[in-house]
Amino acid sequence: MPSPVQSRASARSETGDPLLLTPGPLTTSKAVKQAMVHDWGSRDATFIALNAEVLDSLPKIIHGEGAYVTVPMQGSGTFAVEAMLTTFVPRDGAVLVLINGAYGQRAKRILSVAGRKTFVHETAEDTPPDLDAVERMLEATPSITHVFAVHCETTSGILNPIEKIAALCARRGRRLLIDAMSAFGALELDAPATPFDAVAASANKCFEGVPGLGFVVCRREALAETEGNATTLSLDLLDQWRNLDKTGQYRFTPPIHVIVAFHQALQEFWAEGGVAGRGGRYAENARILIGGMRSLGFETLLPDALQAPIIATFRTPSHPNFVFQRFYDSLKDRGYVIYPGKLTVADSFRIGCIGRLYPSHMRGALEAVRETLEEMGVALAPAPAA
Ligand SMILES: Cc1ncc(COP(=O)(O)O)c(C=O)c1O
Repeated sequence: MPSPVQSRASARSETGDPLLLTPGPLTTSKAVKQAMVHDWGSRDATFIALNAEVLDSLPKIIHGEGAYVTVPMQGSGTFAVEAMLTTFVPRDGAVLVLINGAYGQRAKRILSVAGRKTFVHETAEDTPPDLDAVERMLEATPSITHVFAVHCETTSGILNPIEKIAALCARRGRRLLIDAMSAFGALELDAPATPFDAVAASANKCFEGVPGLGFVVCRREALAETEGNATTLSLDLLDQWRNLDKTGQYRFTPPIHVIVAFHQALQEFWAEGGVAGRGGRYAENARILIGGMRSLGFETLLPDALQAPIIATFRTPSHPNFVFQRFYDSLKDRGYVIYPGKLTVADSFRIGCIGRLYPSHMRGALEAVRETLEEMGVALAPAPAA
C-alpha cells in the first residue's frame, strides 16, 4: 500500500486503509473485521443462535416486533430488492414504480425481467415524486396492486417522502414495497405509522457491516400470502423464511463470515443508540461536509430540505483547472476515497457520510479538499446555502 502523502489532512482507518466516503462498501470498525477471523459451521448450534439474534433484532428498528419478520438473502442489496419484488408481486400483479434515480430504474428492470407489469412515475434526479400525480394514476388504474419506492435514492442522496407515499398507498388500498438500502438503520422508518408490506436493505450500509448479505423485513401476514408468486427458487423469500423458521438454517450456503460481522456491527449500532444515535452521527457528518464544501466553493445538487444525511452530490466546478480524476487521486493519496457521480442531470461527484466516519474525519476530508484545490490552482468563490 503506498504511504499517504505528507499532509495535515492525511487519514487512515483503524486498520490503516484509506477512509471510504462512499455509500457502501464502506469503512467498518476493526472489531467488525476481526469477527471474521474464525470458521463457523453453518448448521452448528452456535452459528444458528447468532444468526437468529441478528434476524430477530431487525424488526425492532422499525418498531415492527411481532408483526414483521426478517428474511435474509445471500448476495448484494440488489438480490434482496429482486427477492422482495418477485416474492411479493403476484405474477398477474402490476407495480407503479416511483423513479428518481438509478435504483428506481433498476427495480423497473427487475420487474420487466420477471415479467411483471409495470407503470412508471418518473421525476428528475433532484425532484421527489409528485404525489398528486401518483394519486391520480392510482385512481385511474385499478389494476395497480403495488407501489415501489426508494427511501433515500443514493444516486443523488435525495430523501423521498416515504411516510406520505405510505399514507397515499393506504388511502388507495395499494401495497407498498420499499428499497431502504442506504437509509435503513439511520433514518427513522416507523412500521405502525408507515404501513408497508416489505422493506429491503443490507448489512453493509448504515449498519457498517461487510457486503454479502441483504435482507427483507416483511409484514408476516403479507409474506404468508405470497405462495406461488416467486419466479425463481433462490430468491423466493417465502421458501427461505419457511426453512429458516422450521430449522433455523439457510437453504443454501450462508455467508457466515458476513453474518458474524453483521452481529458485531449490530452490537455497535445498539451501543451507539440505534437509529437516533447512528442517524445523529451521520447528520452531523453531513452538516459539516456540506457546509465546508460550500465554503470551499462547491454547489450541492440538492437543497437542504431534500438532502438525506447519507451521501451528498456536488456539481463539478467549471473552473478550467479542475480535473476530476486528479481531484479524486489527490484525495485518495491523503486517505479519502470519494465517489464518482451517477447523475444524468448534471456533471457531479458524491461524498458519503456513512460508515465508521466521525466529524473529525469530515473535517480532515475538507482540509484534504482545500489542499487539493490549492495544488490544482483552482480558486472558487464560496457557494450559497440552498
Ligand atoms: C437505494 C439502493 N438500492 C439498491 C442498491 C443496490 O445494492 P447493491 O449494490 O449492494 O446490489 C443500492 C446500492 O448502493 C442502493 O443505494
